[in-house]
Amino acid sequence: TGRVLLRFAPSARDVRVPPGVSVFDAASWNGIAIDSTCGGHGTCRKCKVQLTSGSAPVTSHDRRTFTESEIEDGWRLACLVKATTDLAVDVPPLVTRPKAATVGVGRQVILRPSVQKRYLELEEPTLSDQRTDLQRVLDAIDDLELTPDLHVLRRLPKVLRDNDFKVTAVVIDESLVDVEGGDTTTRRYGIAYDLGTTTVVATLLDLSTGTPVSVASMLNKQQPFGADVITRISATMMDPDTLPRLRDLAQATLAELAADVCAEGEVDLHEVLEVAVAGNATMTALLLGVDPEPLGVAPFIQSTASWPTVSASEVGLELHPAAQVVVFPALGAYVGGDIVAGMLACGMDRDKRTRLFIDVGTNCEIVLSDGDTIVSTAAPAGPAFEGGAIRCGMRAADGAIEVVKLVAEPQEDQAAVTLGVIGDTEPRGLCGSGLVDAVAELARVGLLDDTGRFVPDDVAAERFPALADRLAKIGEERVFVLHRHTPDDEVASTVYLSQRDVRELQFAKGAIATGWALLLEELGLEESDVQQVLLAGSFGSYLSPASAVRIGLVPKLPVLRIVSAGNVAGEGAKMALLSSRERAGAEALLEEVQYVELSDRADFNDRFVEKLGFPG
Ligand code: FES
Repeated sequence: TGRVLLRFAPSARDVRVPPGVSVFDAASWNGIAIDSTCGGHGTCRKCKVQLTSGSAPVTSHDRRTFTESEIEDGWRLACLVKATTDLAVDVPPLVTRPKAATVGVGRQVILRPSVQKRYLELEEPTLSDQRTDLQRVLDAIDDLELTPDLHVLRRLPKVLRDNDFKVTAVVIDESLVDVEGGDTTTRRYGIAYDLGTTTVVATLLDLSTGTPVSVASMLNKQQPFGADVITRISATMMDPDTLPRLRDLAQATLAELAADVCAEGEVDLHEVLEVAVAGNATMTALLLGVDPEPLGVAPFIQSTASWPTVSASEVGLELHPAAQVVVFPALGAYVGGDIVAGMLACGMDRDKRTRLFIDVGTNCEIVLSDGDTIVSTAAPAGPAFEGGAIRCGMRAADGAIEVVKLVAEPQEDQAAVTLGVIGDTEPRGLCGSGLVDAVAELARVGLLDDTGRFVPDDVAAERFPALADRLAKIGEERVFVLHRHTPDDEVASTVYLSQRDVRELQFAKGAIATGWALLLEELGLEESDVQQVLLAGSFGSYLSPASAVRIGLVPKLPVLRIVSAGNVAGEGAKMALLSSRERAGAEALLEEVQYVELSDRADFNDRFVEKLGFPG
């Protein structure tokens, strides 16, 4: 494989990374702390390590930091060593242990935000010390090579003198962006956005501790323009005024959420210094006002994979004047920044196990890693999981059946059908996880055969007397009644699952299963080789692992290997704020992950047909 092996001592950790990654980043990504105050920018000269096997070129910074004999002995600055061959790296004990936070799926993130604050007690100028105000500040921060912005220079003379030269310098990456009177080092905030097609979630993060302060979510204000990305792209194609309107609506959504999380967290909007946004390729393009049309038509081309850092005001956010927005890069038109953020949160590139990541939705993104190689694809699953095209389908809202349990031969005082309903109210319909559960349970007890057809009435009556009275017909179509509002409801006004609904789900899961089956084939693996399946996304996280296995949505594996990963896009966005090194990790994923296009594969249809049934 293309990866290089780094062997860290004394932690005795083996880490495999793509060639070209810095030793500092490789360590950071794997929770191994190396001393640093500049966060890997090559200016603090604190990230000293010793290479005990393998070698690396000597930089001018190394020459300024180490003696000739130390260099001979393999001492280097870790952030300047690009690993191109296998290396053994000795990490000296830390002077100060950096803070870490647990984010995503058990990821330990060492806090290295690009937003830093430094409290300074400066000497006041005298006739014998006529250094400029700026120089006085820069001299006190000698581990960073900072450039000021105009905003600072405008404020500097007054803030210094009003506060007896006791000030806090605010730094983003390598820019000095503000000076504040007194010690404000504990007030450092960022907002992480999960910009979904349906729902947008914002988390206000305390960057000095890594902890979330407040969370808010709301429907994307673009909703009236269509439920999915394709309808929104079409809307922009039909009317040239739509793109700016959709951009404004996305921006208004972010602004309203920023106001909400700041109000709840008792943080001033001006204290927010950085924002990260993880969204699919279409949502990202619309937020930034970039024409999404090429994303929606073959050959599905993005305007760019990586975005420049933009200022918060460019996306309609009134935060600190220097606040910047980090936009997640995307692998392709249908494997967007939300998935890159999800991969980061799950550590898809930092785990030796064979793992399968599935974000279940209208467009289903699938990523497979065998610990060395990572492949990904997108499968068009259609709207079934969101309740679309399902007769009694609905979104996961109050009244939606989300859990279904069937008992073929109930004991006394045991119900044959048990339903879990969102909001504990009268059932009104069936959401995605309820649909998967219903079909899986009917298949498990034997009311649906392996091809997905309801068994004949007489067979049902004989084998499942307790459930058979729920089998009915609407016209010629067979249905299974899940809930009657009154005992003598017409079948059509009950909450039911129809034969056609079962078919819709089979098509959706067939597309997904074909996706992962082809990825497994790509890496020469069998289903049983998969050590962990991560179900992600607003739908996938709520799915019952047992039901997902039963209908063949995921490989046939023990249920303990199937994990609900939660809102991983939002977690990835948090990680980008907590560590500039993680952000570099997201960019590195673009190089590493191979995208496999399904739609031009000759064997797609045959495989799809094979995957329609239930795996018995
Ligand atoms: Fe600061 Fe390497 S991390 S110089």
